[in-house]
Amino acid sequence: MGASVGRGYSPPPSCSPRAARVYTASDVHRFTSDSSAPWFDPLYEAADRQAAAVPWANLRPCGWVADYASAHPGPGTAAIVGCGLGDDAEVIAAAGYSTTAFDVSRHAVEWCRERFPESRVDYRVGDLLDLEDDLVGRFDLAVEVRTIQSLPPQLRNEAIDAVASLVVPGGVVLMVALARTDATVPNGPPWAVSAGELKRFADSEVTVTEDRSESGHFVLELSRSIGQE
Ligand SMILES: C[S@@+](CC[C@H](N)C(=O)[O-])C[C@H]1O[C@@H](n2cnc3c(N)ncnc32)[C@H](O)[C@@H]1O
Repeated sequence: MGASVGRGYSPPPSCSPRAARVYTASDVHRFTSDSSAPWFDPLYEAADRQAAAVPWANLRPCGWVADYASAHPGPGTAAIVGCGLGDDAEVIAAAGYSTTAFDVSRHAVEWCRERFPESRVDYRVGDLLDLEDDLVGRFDLAVEVRTIQSLPPQLRNEAIDAVASLVVPGGVVLMVALARTDATVPNGPPWAVSAGELKRFADSEVTVTEDRSESGHFVLELSRSIGQE
Protein backbone atom coordinates (compact mmCIF):
# COMPACT_ATOMS: atom_id res chain seq x y z
CA MET A 1 0.00 0.00 0.00
CA GLY A 2 2.00 2.87 -1.30
CA ALA A 3 -0.13 5.96 -0.91
CA SER A 4 1.69 9.16 -0.40
CA VAL A 5 0.45 10.75 2.73
CA GLY A 6 -1.69 13.78 3.16
CA ARG A 7 -3.72 15.46 5.89
CA GLY A 8 -6.69 17.69 5.56
CA TYR A 9 -9.41 17.33 3.00
CA SER A 10 -8.12 17.96 -0.46
CA PRO A 11 -8.84 14.90 -2.56
CA PRO A 12 -7.68 14.75 -6.17
CA PRO A 13 -10.05 15.60 -9.00
CA SER A 14 -10.92 11.95 -9.55
CA CYS A 15 -12.78 11.83 -6.26
CA SER A 16 -13.14 15.37 -5.22
CA PRO A 17 -15.71 17.08 -3.09
CA ARG A 18 -16.27 20.66 -4.04
CA ALA A 19 -13.08 22.63 -3.91
CA ALA A 20 -12.35 24.71 -0.86
CA ARG A 21 -15.09 23.21 1.30
CA VAL A 22 -13.76 21.56 4.39
CA TYR A 23 -15.48 19.94 7.26
CA THR A 24 -13.83 20.49 10.53
CA ALA A 25 -14.25 19.48 14.11
CA SER A 26 -16.21 22.68 14.65
CA ASP A 27 -18.69 21.60 11.95
CA VAL A 28 -19.14 18.40 13.86
CA HIS A 29 -19.53 20.09 17.21
CA ARG A 30 -22.22 22.35 15.79
CA PHE A 31 -24.33 19.21 15.91
CA THR A 32 -22.95 17.20 18.79
CA SER A 33 -20.47 17.43 21.58
CA ASP A 34 -19.44 13.82 20.97
CA SER A 35 -17.64 13.20 17.70
CA SER A 36 -18.52 9.52 17.84
CA ALA A 37 -22.22 10.34 17.98
CA PRO A 38 -24.33 10.23 14.80
CA TRP A 39 -23.85 13.79 13.63
CA PHE A 40 -24.35 12.97 9.98
CA ASP A 41 -28.12 12.94 9.93
CA PRO A 42 -28.45 16.41 11.51
CA LEU A 43 -25.97 17.68 8.93
CA TYR A 44 -27.96 16.27 6.00
CA GLU A 45 -31.20 17.52 7.52
CA ALA A 46 -29.79 21.01 8.05
CA ALA A 47 -28.56 21.05 4.42
CA ASP A 48 -32.22 21.02 3.40
CA ARG A 49 -31.52 19.50 -0.04
CA GLN A 50 -28.76 22.03 -0.78
CA ALA A 51 -25.76 19.86 -1.71
CA ALA A 52 -23.48 22.86 -1.27
CA ALA A 53 -24.11 22.53 2.46
CA VAL A 54 -22.78 18.97 2.54
CA PRO A 55 -18.99 19.27 2.62
CA TRP A 56 -18.21 16.03 0.74
CA ALA A 57 -21.02 16.11 -1.80
CA ASN A 58 -20.23 17.02 -5.38
CA LEU A 59 -23.13 15.24 -7.11
CA ARG A 60 -20.75 13.14 -9.19
CA PRO A 61 -19.50 9.60 -8.74
CA CYS A 62 -16.01 9.16 -7.42
CA GLY A 63 -13.73 8.84 -10.45
CA TRP A 64 -12.07 5.71 -9.08
CA VAL A 65 -15.45 4.07 -8.58
CA ALA A 66 -16.54 5.02 -12.10
CA ASP A 67 -13.27 3.58 -13.46
CA TYR A 68 -13.85 0.34 -11.57
CA ALA A 69 -17.42 0.10 -12.84
CA SER A 70 -16.37 0.47 -16.45
CA ALA A 71 -13.48 -1.99 -16.08
CA HIS A 72 -15.53 -4.56 -14.13
CA PRO A 73 -19.14 -4.42 -15.30
CA GLY A 74 -21.74 -6.68 -13.73
CA PRO A 75 -23.74 -8.74 -13.40
CA GLY A 76 -23.17 -9.13 -9.71
CA THR A 77 -24.31 -7.81 -6.39
CA ALA A 78 -22.91 -4.65 -4.83
CA ALA A 79 -23.16 -2.84 -1.51
CA ILE A 80 -22.39 0.85 -1.26
CA VAL A 81 -21.34 1.79 2.27
CA GLY A 82 -22.19 5.27 3.56
CA CYS A 83 -23.72 6.11 0.20
CA GLY A 84 -24.20 9.83 0.85
CA LEU A 85 -26.18 11.34 -2.01
CA GLY A 86 -26.05 8.19 -4.13
CA ASP A 87 -23.78 8.99 -7.07
CA ASP A 88 -21.48 6.00 -6.54
CA ALA A 89 -24.47 3.70 -6.11
CA GLU A 90 -25.93 4.89 -9.40
CA VAL A 91 -22.75 4.35 -11.40
CA ILE A 92 -22.34 0.84 -9.98
CA ALA A 93 -25.98 0.00 -10.70
CA ALA A 94 -25.63 1.37 -14.24
CA ALA A 95 -22.70 -1.02 -14.73
CA GLY A 96 -25.06 -3.93 -14.17
CA TYR A 97 -24.78 -4.65 -10.46
CA SER A 98 -27.83 -5.36 -8.35
CA THR A 99 -27.04 -2.63 -5.86
CA THR A 100 -27.92 -2.01 -2.23
CA ALA A 101 -26.80 1.36 -0.88
CA PHE A 102 -27.03 2.24 2.77
CA ASP A 103 -26.29 5.21 4.94
CA VAL A 104 -26.77 5.84 8.63
CA SER A 105 -28.52 9.10 7.76
CA ARG A 106 -32.24 8.85 7.07
CA HIS A 107 -32.20 12.27 5.44
CA ALA A 108 -29.39 11.23 3.09
CA VAL A 109 -31.32 8.13 2.04
CA GLU A 110 -34.52 10.09 1.44
CA TRP A 111 -32.50 12.59 -0.60
CA CYS A 112 -31.08 9.75 -2.75
CA ARG A 113 -34.58 8.47 -3.45
CA GLU A 114 -35.70 11.94 -4.47
CA ARG A 115 -32.68 12.49 -6.71
CA PHE A 116 -33.07 9.12 -8.44
CA PRO A 117 -36.77 8.30 -8.43
CA GLU A 118 -36.41 5.70 -11.20
CA SER A 119 -33.38 4.09 -9.64
CA ARG A 120 -32.90 0.35 -9.45
CA VAL A 121 -30.77 0.85 -6.34
CA ASP A 122 -32.17 -0.40 -3.04
CA TYR A 123 -31.48 2.68 -0.91
CA ARG A 124 -31.90 2.05 2.77
CA VAL A 125 -31.05 3.43 6.16
CA GLY A 126 -28.39 1.23 7.69
CA ASP A 127 -25.57 1.37 10.17
CA LEU A 128 -22.25 -0.11 9.10
CA LEU A 129 -21.56 -0.79 12.77
CA ASP A 130 -24.81 -2.67 13.25
CA LEU A 131 -25.38 -4.38 9.92
CA GLU A 132 -28.69 -5.93 9.04
CA ASP A 133 -28.36 -9.70 8.74
CA ASP A 134 -29.32 -9.71 5.07
CA LEU A 135 -26.30 -7.57 4.21
CA VAL A 136 -23.66 -9.81 5.73
CA GLY A 137 -21.71 -12.07 3.38
CA ARG A 138 -23.99 -11.30 0.46
CA PHE A 139 -22.15 -9.13 -2.05
CA ASP A 140 -19.72 -9.63 -4.91
CA LEU A 141 -18.56 -6.04 -4.47
CA ALA A 142 -18.52 -3.61 -1.53
CA VAL A 143 -17.70 0.03 -2.26
CA GLU A 144 -16.48 2.10 0.67
CA VAL A 145 -15.60 5.69 -0.18
CA ARG A 146 -14.61 7.92 2.73
CA THR A 147 -16.86 6.36 5.37
CA ILE A 148 -14.20 4.54 7.41
CA GLN A 149 -12.25 7.79 7.62
CA SER A 150 -15.36 9.63 8.76
CA LEU A 151 -15.59 7.49 11.89
CA PRO A 152 -13.36 8.15 14.89
CA PRO A 153 -10.23 5.98 15.17
CA GLN A 154 -11.58 4.02 18.13
CA LEU A 155 -14.19 2.60 15.74
CA ARG A 156 -11.68 1.74 13.01
CA ASN A 157 -11.31 -1.98 13.56
CA GLU A 158 -15.05 -2.41 13.94
CA ALA A 159 -15.65 -0.46 10.73
CA ILE A 160 -13.06 -2.44 8.77
CA ASP A 161 -14.45 -5.75 10.03
CA ALA A 162 -17.94 -4.67 9.00
CA VAL A 163 -16.88 -3.64 5.49
CA ALA A 164 -15.05 -6.94 5.07
CA SER A 165 -18.09 -8.88 6.28
CA LEU A 166 -20.24 -7.63 3.41
CA VAL A 167 -18.54 -9.64 0.67
CA VAL A 168 -18.79 -13.27 -0.32
CA PRO A 169 -15.66 -15.43 -0.64
CA GLY A 170 -13.90 -14.12 -3.75
CA GLY A 171 -15.78 -10.82 -3.41
CA VAL A 172 -14.07 -7.47 -3.86
CA VAL A 173 -13.87 -4.48 -1.54
CA LEU A 174 -13.12 -1.21 -3.32
CA MET A 175 -12.04 1.41 -0.83
CA VAL A 176 -11.00 5.04 -1.07
CA ALA A 177 -9.70 6.86 1.97
CA LEU A 178 -7.38 9.65 2.91
CA ALA A 179 -3.98 8.23 3.81
CA ARG A 180 -1.62 9.02 6.66
CA THR A 181 1.53 7.36 7.96
CA ASP A 182 1.38 5.14 11.00
CA ALA A 183 3.72 7.59 12.68
CA THR A 184 1.14 10.37 12.62
CA VAL A 185 -1.85 10.71 14.89
CA PRO A 186 -5.18 11.12 13.10
CA ASN A 187 -6.74 14.46 13.87
CA GLY A 188 -10.16 14.48 12.29
CA PRO A 189 -12.69 14.58 11.07
CA PRO A 190 -11.86 13.13 8.71
CA TRP A 191 -9.50 10.72 10.44
CA ALA A 192 -7.07 9.64 7.72
CA VAL A 193 -6.26 5.95 7.54
CA SER A 194 -2.86 4.27 7.85
CA ALA A 195 -1.42 1.17 6.19
CA GLY A 196 -1.03 -0.39 9.62
CA GLU A 197 -4.71 0.08 10.36
CA LEU A 198 -5.66 -1.50 7.02
CA LYS A 199 -3.85 -4.70 7.97
CA ARG A 200 -6.99 -5.39 9.98
CA PHE A 201 -8.67 -6.49 6.73
CA ALA A 202 -6.38 -9.54 6.72
CA ASP A 203 -8.11 -10.79 9.89
CA SER A 204 -11.16 -11.34 7.67
CA GLU A 205 -9.03 -12.96 4.93
CA VAL A 206 -9.44 -9.82 2.82
CA THR A 207 -6.21 -8.79 1.14
CA VAL A 208 -5.07 -6.15 -1.33
CA THR A 209 -5.17 -7.27 -4.96
CA GLU A 210 -4.79 -3.86 -6.68
CA ASP A 211 -3.25 -0.72 -5.26
CA ARG A 212 -4.01 2.47 -7.20
CA SER A 213 -3.21 4.75 -4.31
CA GLU A 214 -2.30 8.29 -5.26
CA SER A 215 -2.54 11.89 -4.20
CA GLY A 216 -2.61 11.14 -0.49
CA HIS A 217 -5.35 8.55 -0.85
CA PHE A 218 -5.56 4.85 -0.50
CA VAL A 219 -7.35 3.52 -3.54
CA LEU A 220 -7.44 -0.22 -3.01
CA GLU A 221 -9.12 -3.27 -4.39
CA LEU A 222 -9.12 -6.05 -1.87
CA SER A 223 -10.44 -9.57 -2.29
CA ARG A 224 -11.83 -12.02 0.22
CA SER A 225 -10.15 -15.40 0.22
CA ILE A 226 -12.13 -18.09 -1.57
CA GLY A 227 -11.39 -20.38 1.35
CA GLN A 228 -13.15 -18.08 3.84
CA GLU A 229 -16.48 -19.50 5.03
C1 LIG B 1 -17.65 11.60 4.25
S1 LIG B 1 -19.25 11.03 3.88
C2 LIG B 1 -18.95 10.20 2.33
C3 LIG B 1 -20.22 9.95 1.57
C4 LIG B 1 -20.02 9.26 0.23
N1 LIG B 1 -19.45 7.93 0.40
C5 LIG B 1 -19.17 10.13 -0.66
O1 LIG B 1 -18.02 9.76 -0.93
O2 LIG B 1 -19.65 11.18 -1.08
C6 LIG B 1 -19.48 9.67 5.00
C7 LIG B 1 -20.84 9.04 4.86
O3 LIG B 1 -20.92 7.91 5.69
C8 LIG B 1 -22.14 7.92 6.37
N2 LIG B 1 -21.94 7.16 7.60
C9 LIG B 1 -21.26 7.54 8.70
N3 LIG B 1 -21.27 6.60 9.63
C10 LIG B 1 -21.97 5.57 9.10
C11 LIG B 1 -22.34 4.29 9.59
N4 LIG B 1 -21.99 3.88 10.82
N5 LIG B 1 -23.07 3.49 8.80
C12 LIG B 1 -23.44 3.90 7.55
N6 LIG B 1 -23.13 5.10 7.05
C13 LIG B 1 -22.40 5.93 7.80
C14 LIG B 1 -22.47 9.38 6.57
O4 LIG B 1 -23.83 9.63 6.81
C15 LIG B 1 -21.97 9.96 5.27
O5 LIG B 1 -22.97 9.95 4.28
